[in-house]
Amino acid sequence: MKNYQQQLSKLGIELELLEHPEMVEVVDVLRYLDKPISESFSTLIMKADKQYVAVIRRDDTKLNNDRLRKVLGAERVEMLSIDEFEELIGLPRGAAHILCPVEKTLIDKRVLEKTEVLGGCGSLIYSGKYLSKDLNKIPNSEVVDIADEKEEIEITKLVKDGVIKRVLSGITPSGSALHIGNYYGAVKPQLELAELIPETNYFVADLHALTTVQNAEQIEENVTGVVLDYLALGLDPEKCVFFRQSDVPEHSQLAVVMANYISYGQMKRMHAYKDKLAKGANEESINMGLFNYPILMAADILLYKPDGVPVGEDQRQHIELTRDMAENFNRTYGKEVFPLPLPLIREDVGRLVGTDGERKMSKSLGNTIGIFEDYSVIEKQIMKCFTDPKRLKATDPGRVEGNPVFIYHDLINDDKSEVEELKTRYRAGTVGDVEVKRKLIEAHKRCFLQARERRDYYESHMDEVREILVEGAKKARKYANKTLREVYEVIGERNKLNT
Ligand code: TYM
Repeated sequence: MKNYQQQLSKLGIELELLEHPEMVEVVDVLRYLDKPISESFSTLIMKADKQYVAVIRRDDTKLNNDRLRKVLGAERVEMLSIDEFEELIGLPRGAAHILCPVEKTLIDKRVLEKTEVLGGCGSLIYSGKYLSKDLNKIPNSEVVDIADEKEEIEITKLVKDGVIKRVLSGITPSGSALHIGNYYGAVKPQLELAELIPETNYFVADLHALTTVQNAEQIEENVTGVVLDYLALGLDPEKCVFFRQSDVPEHSQLAVVMANYISYGQMKRMHAYKDKLAKGANEESINMGLFNYPILMAADILLYKPDGVPVGEDQRQHIELTRDMAENFNRTYGKEVFPLPLPLIREDVGRLVGTDGERKMSKSLGNTIGIFEDYSVIEKQIMKCFTDPKRLKATDPGRVEGNPVFIYHDLINDDKSEVEELKTRYRAGTVGDVEVKRKLIEAHKRCFLQARERRDYYESHMDEVREILVEGAKKARKYANKTLREVYEVIGERNKLNT
C-alpha cells in the first residue's frame, strides 16, 4: 500500500483512502460506503492476443467488446482467470489498483464524466477515491470510447445481484393527486421492483400529512386521492403489501423509540426544517410534527427492515438519517437488529424538473404536470411549460438537452420516432413550441389512458379499495409487530414482567 501511494504521488495522482470491512465485491463496498455505482470504476485486467492490458470502466457501464478489440487491434480479448490475475498482479481478486504491470491502460471516457471516482487501491479493506482528471497520468494510458451507455440502472443490478430483496416506500398525501414527478421518480420504479422482487411494501403516509393538512375532510380527500392514484397507476395488491400508515400503529410506536438514537443537533440539520427557517419562518410557527418528521419516516422504514427504499432524490437525506439511526441503535445494543437500507434513487428521473424549467417538480411550487386531472388542466400545465429560454422565434434553432418539454417527451411519449423527429426539427428551427407541446398533450393522453380507466373503476368500487387497505394493513401489522416486539426485547421494555 505504502509503495503504491508513493508511486501515485510521484505521478501526481491524488488518493484518498476509504476504510471498510474486508470486501471483494464492488456492490458490497458501495453499499457500505453508500456511494452510487456511477461513481465507481473497476480496473479489469485482460489479455488482448498476447499482450496484457488494463481497462478502466465505470461500474454502471458495460464494455463493448467489438470496440475494445478495434481499439486494441486484437482478434481476441478476454478477462484473466482469477489464478492468472493473482499471479500477474500479485493482488487478490477485487483489489486491482490503477498501476498494474501491463502494457497499456485504457480508460473509458465515461469514467471522466464524474469529478471523483471510487476504485481499487490494492487492498480489500480500503477503496481509493481518485480525481478522475488524474487518471490521465497513469503511464501508457489512453482515454477511449469502449463502453456502452449505462448497461442497466443501478437498481436493476442491485436486484440482480441479490442485494435488494425487500423494499419499502411511501407517499405523503399532502395533496390529493400525484404528479408525473411522483410517478416517474418514485411510483414507476416502485412498481417495476414489485415485478422483480418478492417483498415490496408501499403505503400512504397519512400521519406525515398532518404537518401541513390540519382539516379532517381534507385529509380524507387527500388520502383517498393518493390511494386511488397509486392503484390506478398499476399497483397490484397481490404483488405488494399496500396500506395506510395510520392503520398500523407500530409506526408511531417505533418512532417514539427511535427518537432516542438521534441527536437534536442532527435533527436541526434536516432540509425540511432548515428550508422553512431559511424561508423566513420563525421557530414559533414550525410545528414539532415537521421537526420530528424524519424520525417517523425512519420508523416507517426500519419497521419493515427493507434492503432499499425506492424514492426520489429529495428523500435521500431522510434515508441517510434512517441509516444513522439504525447504525446507532445496532451499535448501542451490539446487535444487527436493523439492516441499513439503501436509498434507491434513479439518476435519470430522481429529480424531475418542473414546468418552470428550474426547480424540482413539486406541488407546492405550482410547477407540476398532473396525471388524473381534467384534460383542460393538464393542457394548461403543459402549454405554460418553459422551453429553451434563448429561442425567441420558431425559426431559431433550439436546444433540446435540458429542455423540460423534451425531458417529458422522452418519458411520456411512446412514439419514439415522433420524439426524434421533433428534436431534429427543434434543433433546426423548423418546429414551434406549440406543436411540440400539442404532441406532448396527445402523448400524455395515450400514456395514462389505461390508468384513468382503472382509476374510474376503483372510484366506483370503493368497497374493493377499502378491502385492499384492510388486507394490506393486516399483512403490514404482522411484520411490523414482530419488529416492534424484537425492538422492545432488545431495549429491555419487554422482559420477565410481561413475557
Ligand atoms: P412525497 O410524498 O413528497 O413524494 C413521494 C415520492 O415522489 C418523489 N418525488 C419526485 N421524484 C422525482 N422528481 C420529482 N420532482 C419528485 N417529487 C416527488 C419523492 O422523492 C417520493 O419518493 N417523506 C416522503 C414520504 C414517506 C416515505 C416514508 C418515503 C414517508 N415515510 C418512508 C419512503 C419511506 C414524502 O414526503 O414523499
